[in-house]
Amino acid sequence: MLLLTLWSVLCVASVQARPNIVIFLADDLGWNDVGFHGSNQIPTPNIDALAYSGLVLQNYYVTPICTPSRAALMTGKYPIHTGMQHTVIRGEEPRGLPLSEKILPQYLKDLGYKTHLVGKWHLGHYKREYLPMSRGFDTHLGFWTGKIDLYDHTNMETGTWGFDFRRGYEVAYDLFGKYATDIYTNEAVKLVEAHNKSEPLFLMVAHSAMHSGNPSEFLRAPDEVIDKFSHIKDTQRRKYAGMLTKLDESVGKVVMSLRKEGLLENTIILFSTDNGGPAAGFNNNAASNYPLKGVKNTLWEGGVRGAALLWSPLIKQPSRVANQTLHIADWLPTLYSAAGGETSVFKNLDGFDLWEALSNDLPSHRTKIVHNIDDIFASASITVDNWKLHKGTNYNGTKDYWYGPAGRDGEYSFDLLYKSDAAVAINNITALPNKERITSIRDASTIKCNNGKPINECKPLKAPCLFDIDEDPCELKNLADEKPDILQALLSELERVNATAVPPNNQDLNLRGDPKYWGRVFTNFGDYIHLETPV
Ligand SMILES: *[C@@H]1O[C@H](CO)[C@@H](O)[C@H](O)[C@H]1NC(C)=O
Ligand SMILES: *[C@@H]1O[C@H](CO)[C@@H](O)[C@H](O)[C@H]1NC(C)=O
Ligand SMILES: *[C@@H]1O[C@H](CO)[C@@H](O)[C@H](O)[C@H]1NC(C)=O
Ligand SMILES: *[C@@H]1O[C@H](CO)[C@@H](O)[C@H](O)[C@H]1NC(C)=O
Ligand SMILES: *[C@@H]1O[C@H](CO)[C@@H](O)[C@H](O)[C@H]1NC(C)=O
Repeated sequence: MLLLTLWSVLCVASVQARPNIVIFLADDLGWNDVGFHGSNQIPTPNIDALAYSGLVLQNYYVTPICTPSRAALMTGKYPIHTGMQHTVIRGEEPRGLPLSEKILPQYLKDLGYKTHLVGKWHLGHYKREYLPMSRGFDTHLGFWTGKIDLYDHTNMETGTWGFDFRRGYEVAYDLFGKYATDIYTNEAVKLVEAHNKSEPLFLMVAHSAMHSGNPSEFLRAPDEVIDKFSHIKDTQRRKYAGMLTKLDESVGKVVMSLRKEGLLENTIILFSTDNGGPAAGFNNNAASNYPLKGVKNTLWEGGVRGAALLWSPLIKQPSRVANQTLHIADWLPTLYSAAGGETSVFKNLDGFDLWEALSNDLPSHRTKIVHNIDDIFASASITVDNWKLHKGTNYNGTKDYWYGPAGRDGEYSFDLLYKSDAAVAINNITALPNKERITSIRDASTIKCNNGKPINECKPLKAPCLFDIDEDPCELKNLADEKPDILQALLSELERVNATAVPPNNQDLNLRGDPKYWGRVFTNFGDYIHLETPV
């Protein structure tokens, strides 16, 4: 009896000790849109404060577009292994992340976590069983499709238009007109405040920002915030600055609430973009991946190298630029392991448990990355050690360039940084590094390329290209001719992984899913109709 009591006390104790896990997932945020990568144009003091006192994830890769990236985050698998490798799920598409996949919040529930999703889902909604609360999240406030107008919460896509905002399974009409980022901030803070501290918390805040909304006004933020950036001449970029400021402020407020509730000491925070930035008008947006090549939905570094940081008092070697190679599929085993879970529960993952490597600054087990294989676009890219292969490209090569802005003019504001909510909250637990240290971290995480003309120009529609990413992160010097053996080795590796791919599970749109049949709301239409019913 005594033993049994002792045992249950120990169990409870170990459950209590599990760290809280908070993921801030930005949408379409570019490499050069966070202050810690060297741009002075749009201050992100809260995000930066976490980066400098945590880990700047310098060699971190995501997939080039939203649905595949979120699928990898949730499953720990490459999109080629879940059928999610080609573009995104559309509002009228009867498709979702396969139900055969057990996902991150489900695994964390097994460890006793309370699990909450705030914001975007985009992994399938045509049937209730694909929705977040059917797949491991205790609560969800947010939206189901790929993007919304940040104020009216409607999504215009594929020739139709509908409202898309939910509290759980219910349509949240009452939130119409409220700025989405503020809704997420308030909801996240409320969840933190209401959280039962004897249980571990998993909170994922999947922002609408920085994705563009609808044609009436693609990028939206409160006027008074946009007006602070009157010195930015490009109107779209100025609005982008307003959106990003709100996103950064949101991160700060949530971190502060974790501090106030006494949760921050035992919390792991991941801040990550879902894919590279849509720059120079791509997707009607104004992100920057400078000096990297390409944009969102391309396989160049600008499309797949993700702006991200990891923060936690549990990291044993913090305040550094972490050069461990990492892929978004690694978070499932990495966070599960950090939570004290036994990673032998995972079968057939592409992700690695890199918690020890990140925490103790040890070599990463990851030496290869499959950026994607998309046979519909006829494009593929992989990295092996420092070598990156490109075969084919998207958009017929029209996005295979380098875009700004660099944002290197002006000065970095340490004042904003140290006064930010996140900095104040962090300083309550562990000191933020001094200016000198921050300057050196920032310098090391600022990629510098002699952006001259490309050498042996890569024409991926004609022949595969090869780059040494360590030496040439900007993909300027095509080494395919110079290093035929390495090129051949990577082509063989591509062939090997390609043989493991499953076919993409994209479906034709089902016009019965058009919001016009459902009171102008995007719905789980597949629960109400036979999909083959004619319109
Ligand atoms: C908080 O969680 C603990 C452990 O699960 C539970 O025993 C307790 O009843 C919970 N408290 C409240 C107020 O729900
Ligand atoms: C990471 O940095 C260490 C030294 O700090 C170096 O030895 C190692 O080669 C680097 N690894 C990569 C992948 O760049
Ligand atoms: C692709 O680009 C080439 C020139 O770069 C052009 O000749 C060709 O028409 C384009 N193809 C399509 C389908 O746009
Ligand atoms: C942290 O905050 C608490 C509560 O606001 C305060 O009592 C304490 O002095 C602070 N500690 C530090 C190191 O700032
Ligand atoms: C992958 O394999 C399929 C056939 O199974 C083939 O059609 C496709 O071209 C291959 N893709 C690459 C990038 O090798």
